[in-house]
Amino acid sequence: MVVLGIETSCDETAAAVVESGRRVLANVVATQFDLHAQYGGVVPELAARRHQENIVPVIRAALAEANIGLQDLSAIAATQGPGLIGALVIGFAVAKSLAYALQIPLVGVHHLHAHLAAPFLSPTPPRFPFIALVVSGGHTNLYYVTGFRQITLLGRSRDDAAGEAFDKVAKLLGLGYPGGIAIERLAAAGNPQAYPLPRPRIAGEPLTFSYSGLKTAVAVLLRQQPEILASQAAAADLAASFQAAVVDSLVSRALLAAQEHRCPRLVVAGGVAANARLRQVLQEQAQSAGLELFLPPLSLCTDNAAMVAALGYHLLQEGQPLDLRADVFARG
Ligand code: KG4
Ligand code: ZN
Repeated sequence: MVVLGIETSCDETAAAVVESGRRVLANVVATQFDLHAQYGGVVPELAARRHQENIVPVIRAALAEANIGLQDLSAIAATQGPGLIGALVIGFAVAKSLAYALQIPLVGVHHLHAHLAAPFLSPTPPRFPFIALVVSGGHTNLYYVTGFRQITLLGRSRDDAAGEAFDKVAKLLGLGYPGGIAIERLAAAGNPQAYPLPRPRIAGEPLTFSYSGLKTAVAVLLRQQPEILASQAAAADLAASFQAAVVDSLVSRALLAAQEHRCPRLVVAGGVAANARLRQVLQEQAQSAGLELFLPPLSLCTDNAAMVAALGYHLLQEGQPLDLRADVFARG
């Protein structure tokens, strides 16, 4: 079974071809960083229009890379939400049109569930059940997963997402957009203990995340000590201290969730899971806690359509294809 995946929920136009939910035959991602960098963040209207320009060339490129034609496709999987409505509509409408024209099933995929399906594209996929931490630009969600349709939310951020905090602090440090990778690079030369930053906790909600206080702490520090920005070494120390605070809060909650559910497996996915420090601390702590850790390769952490096709395949094994009148959703 050959599935074409389509992903347009934010600022990546992506198409991928995946065979039997496992073998990636093509994975094409057109980023829009150049377009949004000048505004310091994603402009939804511009994102939608760029998807409109790119979607057909990106699908064509994926089919060419997989060396197949439209007639070889068995099903179409497309991100249905959450995300930017104008952006989602482009990919979803194209997916519907293809499913209709080719008379093959369409499956709508939840973007965050697709992230946690990324490790199923590796030769050693996780077994159910597992704890999954999905850390992206819009979400910081902790799940207990017993099947592709059995995904229970255990905790999330009550304010900013972890990736959003990276992007906002990068802006404060004058690093531009997207912020995560820029902070990671700057932090590489810094001392993570240089600045004591808060690790916010919500009383009585040990699995809830919160990042707006951390971002504010960085903003206040920079207002009090603007000279930090003039020194590459001091800025690196601050970036490293911020990154360490985020990593601590993510890893501690993921491990706590695994402990609470007596679950021996942990999946960590989403754009922030590309962060080298997070990956290293996760590997160390998972090992000492006796947890089996599943981290997708970097190209499958940030937004892509291979994860969409993979989840779409598994959903189709277990359920009905989508009615072609289905709509996209912004939240959920
Ligand atoms: O999953 P993703 O590609 O898109 C969304 O679904 O939001 O995640 C994007 C987020 C951005 O906030 C970006 O700054 C962050 O992931 N990110 C990183 C790194 N690479 C991407 N954050 C920290 N370190 C990285 N290396
Ligand atoms: Zn994402």
